[in-house]
Amino acid sequence: MPANKLDIVVIIGSLREGSYNAMLARALPELAPDEIAIRFAPSFETFPLYNADLQAREGIPEAVKRFGEAVRAADGVIIVSPEYNFSIPGGLKNALDWVSRMEPQPFEHKPVAIQSASPSPLGGGRVQYHLRQLMVYLDALVLNKPEVFVSNAPAKVNETTGALTDETTRKFARQQLEAFARFIHEVGAKHGAEPQRKRAS
Ligand code: FNR
Repeated sequence: MPANKLDIVVIIGSLREGSYNAMLARALPELAPDEIAIRFAPSFETFPLYNADLQAREGIPEAVKRFGEAVRAADGVIIVSPEYNFSIPGGLKNALDWVSRMEPQPFEHKPVAIQSASPSPLGGGRVQYHLRQLMVYLDALVLNKPEVFVSNAPAKVNETTGALTDETTRKFARQQLEAFARFIHEVGAKHGAEPQRKRAS
């Protein structure tokens, strides 16, 4: 990652191969302003179900540590997730529960932005508010606006190539990325964090 860029980690909340949220997430590098470099968090697919007894017995699994370290090292995190039953998909919730047990807790004072995509007309609005609620407990700093809800997702992608094709959606995602970069500079300064870009200057 170039030293003068903001280091942004993207977490994809769906494990599905043909995931619309993954398509949205994979479009972010080409939509991001120059000052942002995007990388993807490792998959949480292999995380065991969280169990405090398992943690007491065996500690934090290596896969969880790698995921948590990716979050901790980043200047900001973008979560791109589907909504399951009006809430956070179990796999993603399990991943966040595991990571929240790491010390120091990786999301503490971490700038976070949220996006969701769904075939439904609401675009997964409710998962975003549940993620925001969870992030309160983790003391993350969540960007308020602009929000990115991708409704009617199958019409906004090319299912064959996986490209995000809808221009309006691309514009909204770009605007959020620009706002997120500004937000990271603002909250980073307030909370004593030192974004990559500042470290380089
Ligand atoms: C869904 N889906 C869904 N969609 C939505 O907008 N609100 C919801 O509450 C739910 N609930 C829900 C529960 C479960 C268990 C499944 C499997 C699906 C539909 C969901 O948005 C759709 O399957 C998306 O395609 C999932 O996202 P990815 O995998 O395409 O990124």
